[in-house]
Amino acid sequence: MEKIIDGKAIAEKVRSEVKEQVKSLNALGINPCLAVILVGNDPASAVYVASKTKALQEVGMTDRTFKLAEDTTQQALEDLLDDLNGDDSVHGILVQFPLPAHLDSQRITDKILPQKDVDGFHIQNAGALVCEKDSFIPCTPLGILRLLQETGMETAGKHACIIGRSHFVGRPLSILLSQKPWDCTVTLCHSATKNLSFFTKTADIVIAACGRAGLVTGDMIKTDAVVIDVGINRVPDASKKSGYALKGDVDFESAAKVASAITPVPGGVGPMTIAMLMFNVAKAAGRG
Ligand code: GUN
Repeated sequence: MEKIIDGKAIAEKVRSEVKEQVKSLNALGINPCLAVILVGNDPASAVYVASKTKALQEVGMTDRTFKLAEDTTQQALEDLLDDLNGDDSVHGILVQFPLPAHLDSQRITDKILPQKDVDGFHIQNAGALVCEKDSFIPCTPLGILRLLQETGMETAGKHACIIGRSHFVGRPLSILLSQKPWDCTVTLCHSATKNLSFFTKTADIVIAACGRAGLVTGDMIKTDAVVIDVGINRVPDASKKSGYALKGDVDFESAAKVASAITPVPGGVGPMTIAMLMFNVAKAAGRG
């Protein structure tokens, strides 16, 4: 097993698979299209949206990006979603989070038609995932499953310890890994967990998705564990032009000495999230 799990290379492989799917859809007269909505001026969100637009172009899909003012009202955003829900040329809709505080994110999420909810955040898709029915699986968990698959490791009966219980990553991933074909024994740790290393030290797979830079250190993991780092934390760094460096939730240097395989930050989970979004848009277009 390669020690560094190269998310950039695996994401490129996924994108080339999606490109082929897009060609087949084009031959049927379908041009897969994703509407991306960005509200306000959050710099990190603007960077994510730009990466999504670039990836859409690269796989030959159409993007319709809406950049809305910070003071956009709930009604105006819901009206736009109504229009996009009713537009047959739009196959997927993504509202970039976090939204400004005056907007009700859950209502916005559930306003998107489930069959266009390529983020997999709609309550109907979340329920389908629990019940093992076909649904849109959130892109980061989907990307992590693909990374694990690419390592070639046998996961059945293994202990997967996930740190972080977010609706977008930790919780859906804990459910997926407990299901077939993954068949893991899962522990889901979070901010109220006592003695975190008690759980991580017995895990064959450690997945850190808690948004705390460098939380997981080498002494907390078992020899030859597989370590997946979902964190993308901006840490002040005067030596960088931007004034910050990107750090994962794992202390890479110490963890890499113990792990059998580990994802870097950047270049691990991040590119996979975007590649799996392309996968979900192709799926939405194929279903339509
Ligand atoms: N903000 C951070 N990650 C995501 C994501 O995967 N989807 C959306 N819609 N917003 C995000």
